[in-house]
Amino acid sequence: MSEHKKLYDEVFSLIEKHDDWMSKTINLIASENVSSPAVRSAIVCDFRDRYAEGWPGERVYAGCKYIDEVELITIDLAKKLYRAEFADVRPVSGVVANLAMYTAAMEPLDRMMALSIARGGHISHARKDLGGTAGQIRGHKVRNWIFDDKEFNIDVEESMKEIRKLQEKGDEIKFLLFGGSVFPFPHPVKEFREIADEYGITIGYDSAHVSGLIASGFFQDPLREGADMMTTSTHKTLPGPQHAMVLAKEEWAEKIKRASFPGLLSNHHLHNVAGLAIALAEMIEFGVDYSRQIMKNAKALAQSLHERGWQVIAEHKGFTQSHVVLVDVTETPMKDGRAVEENLE
Ligand SMILES: Cc1ncc(COP(=O)(O)O)c(C=O)c1O
Repeated sequence: MSEHKKLYDEVFSLIEKHDDWMSKTINLIASENVSSPAVRSAIVCDFRDRYAEGWPGERVYAGCKYIDEVELITIDLAKKLYRAEFADVRPVSGVVANLAMYTAAMEPLDRMMALSIARGGHISHARKDLGGTAGQIRGHKVRNWIFDDKEFNIDVEESMKEIRKLQEKGDEIKFLLFGGSVFPFPHPVKEFREIADEYGITIGYDSAHVSGLIASGFFQDPLREGADMMTTSTHKTLPGPQHAMVLAKEEWAEKIKRASFPGLLSNHHLHNVAGLAIALAEMIEFGVDYSRQIMKNAKALAQSLHERGWQVIAEHKGFTQSHVVLVDVTETPMKDGRAVEENLE
């Protein structure tokens, strides 16, 4: 057998082992999910080998008539599920969706507020010296929200003072980013709408983690609370394929479209758009029961860890209002997370 054939067989064998392992594992990684058989069958269609580029009906490539119809259905389902005036379903990942949002809302080098990574922000929200997407790719200066560790949320009063102080100093803030990767409680979006209007600031919301809960009405509703635009990856509490979207008020449509294409994307992984349509339809039909169960599971896990003596954060707030449960392990033998992870594997 040739060396390459051995490697070819090895890859199939490793995939089989991985699938078998995952089928017997309780996976507690909050940023992952399991998509339905219908989503999986959609993402292996011929779209996976095609190009489209551009908006449905205005494609650069031929051969797109069915692809266009599917993408238009996906857009309609996304708008319906999130009650959004506009949806761009092309970004291929949450980071790309965030880049599209930054590009639409800000000029390069503009200053923004975001959650620090230590308090749950995502690397795509972070400064240049941390290698963050916002700083490194777009040159944005990132100021961090002042955080209330006890409430595990943005400190509204102190953050408001910080924004006013910066505006008065001439260090203008152009963009307020809410949302993050460690996200047990809704962020105070509506509290900042007034100051945003006063200084002409745009509000964005990264719903990657909680978008399934938002869609089902169990978290907050950023587009009604004052966010101008919202990004989401589509494979966390929304159990779709690995992909992303930007949802926004209509007035942002043209800027977001141009940021996605030709700004950031050439092809946009059309098979995943098809899979996303299926996941969105499933959420419209079953999302309320599905999300209710996610929240019940998270609360039950938090409660039983607490009863067994673990330091689950925010007991006074019922531990969590999302799928995320946080345990302070710093004073326990579990404090080396990497070692614990390796032991469990
Ligand atoms: C808040 C947040 N935004 C963006 C992303 C990036 O999404 P993706 O991995 O699809 O690029 C993540 C990933 O976990 C995230 O937690």
